[in-house]
Amino acid sequence: MNFCLQSSDMYQLPLLQPHKELIQIQGSEAGQECRFVLEREPEGYLAIRDLERPDLKPLSSFDLIQEWHQRLKSYRGKQEPLSKALGIHKRPLTGPVVDTTAGLGRDSCVMAQSGAKVIMLERELPLALVLSDAIEHAQALDWFELDLELIHAEAADYAASSTLPANTVLYCDPMFNHKSNKSAQNKRLMQFLQHLCHKPSEEDLPSALLAQLQPGQKLIVKKALPDPPLTQHLNYQLKGKNFRFDIHYRPMV
Ligand SMILES: C[S@@+](CC[C@H](N)C(=O)[O-])C[C@H]1O[C@@H](n2cnc3c(N)ncnc32)[C@H](O)[C@@H]1O
Repeated sequence: MNFCLQSSDMYQLPLLQPHKELIQIQGSEAGQECRFVLEREPEGYLAIRDLERPDLKPLSSFDLIQEWHQRLKSYRGKQEPLSKALGIHKRPLTGPVVDTTAGLGRDSCVMAQSGAKVIMLERELPLALVLSDAIEHAQALDWFELDLELIHAEAADYAASSTLPANTVLYCDPMFNHKSNKSAQNKRLMQFLQHLCHKPSEEDLPSALLAQLQPGQKLIVKKALPDPPLTQHLNYQLKGKNFRFDIHYRPMV
């Protein structure tokens, strides 16, 4: 990842501790070739600046909190497509949800709002740090009572190496071209995300997760409507106006 650090107070972030060495190495390379810069805004929020796009406002943890608040204001409980995909409209979840593509954290918040414990995985370190900062700031807000755990990880490796319980739901949204929200703010954030997340994963990750799915576990993959499913043997599809959820379930043996 081509980024560098500008603020020593980064080291206070809880998420950072396991990655201190990595950050120091990348931080010490700070210089001409650096495209993304992490900085602390005067208001105390962590932000990523894209040096190749000076026209783009930095992506900050405050932006994420605003996005979450907006999204949760229109939360429709069991009517949410995500609640239906999780199956919450029929029975409560008994295991954790692993959001394997945390991104800006919006879907994680919606799933956590439905009462799930959500483990968020994000492989891009700068984004994971901004997410961590947003969660930390949001804890002080009265509307934010969500059970979120954030892990900086490559999701396929995490799923392969952790012992996730049988009743785990894995959620995967590798799509960058969401058509549902066309606000200027949303466009800016998605544009930022696309530049930052240099490794396209639209097919690789869902396939890897499906191959690793254990008995009793469920995999939900968000797809654009015209895109083919990962396999013809999926359990069911939930179609919305702009996207659908493909649901794969591995029965208990
Ligand atoms: C389209 S965005 C997800 C948007 C998210 N659903 C939301 O509500 O904001 C995809 C995110 O998944 C991350 N990602 C993609 N492949 C990944 C992988 N294999 N492991 C962990 N994170 C991954 C990308 O870095 C990016 O931040």
